[in-house]
Amino acid sequence: MPSRFTQPLKVVENPDAYRTISVKPLNPVIGAEVSGIDLSKPLGDAQFEEVKRAFNTHQVLIFREQHLSNEDHKRFGRMFGPLHVHPYHAKKVAPEHAKTSAFDGQESDPEILVVKADQSSKFVAGEDWHTDVSCDEKPPMGSMLYITKTPEVGGGDTCFISTTRANEALSETMQEFLGTLTAMHDGAKPYSGGYGTPAPEGGWPKTEHPVVIRHPDTGRKSLFVNRGFTTRITQLKRKESDALLEMLWRHIESHLEFQCRVQWTPNTLVFWDNRVTQHHAVWDYYPYSRYGQRVSIVGARPTS
Ligand code: SIN
Repeated sequence: MPSRFTQPLKVVENPDAYRTISVKPLNPVIGAEVSGIDLSKPLGDAQFEEVKRAFNTHQVLIFREQHLSNEDHKRFGRMFGPLHVHPYHAKKVAPEHAKTSAFDGQESDPEILVVKADQSSKFVAGEDWHTDVSCDEKPPMGSMLYITKTPEVGGGDTCFISTTRANEALSETMQEFLGTLTAMHDGAKPYSGGYGTPAPEGGWPKTEHPVVIRHPDTGRKSLFVNRGFTTRITQLKRKESDALLEMLWRHIESHLEFQCRVQWTPNTLVFWDNRVTQHHAVWDYYPYSRYGQRVSIVGARPTS
């Protein structure tokens, strides 16, 4: 039977190939549990190289039973690049405005984004398929969410999709066409449109990125349009753009074989690659509480 993919599945490495960590894939496409590592301590060069290799291979890494201070969390993030400051911090959104959003209760540290929900929440962060802050000129290459409190009733999972595998499942003709396009990503869509936060002075970040980007380390191509931030394909008429974006989002979101689902346990850190994945926080636990903090790492400007 011919494969529906234009590229063969990249064979997942032999987990025994790691010497300083253990890596257990969730499936052959996306996600792996990493053990044998203590993120509260600085990593040696060999361990860092293996974490990086696992990250490039599996796109989403899950580290359980970690006990991290804010400084430990940020130190691990900084190993991959400078830390990102979320527009809520960068634009100094007033707390009374931030309170109406999913991002209430922020700490004063601009490099840490609080992600929390409880009985007073009207929204939770990331409750739509998205890549983090793709409206920035240099969006986060990766994010590290450290969840310390999970709902007593269970739930609060995060779902992830591989946008490299989604791209490989399109026809070659469609891949070539998409490779000629760029799209606008606008922070006003989620922050004002979704969470109801008034635009700050100077407005939210807004940037045009290629529709298909290339991962700087692996060279794999990835679909870089997401429901959360993308508003328009620049070269097309409005109706054409709406139809094509909707087709791509449905394609990305509706295939279980591109996906994995992370079930959190307290004190788990998940590190995902925003260039090759999208994620969706599942809010199925209201009125129970969930608490975590996110550190993101600034990446290069995405290129095709
Ligand atoms: C996010 O989009 O970073 C939040 C994800 C989550 O809370 O699971």
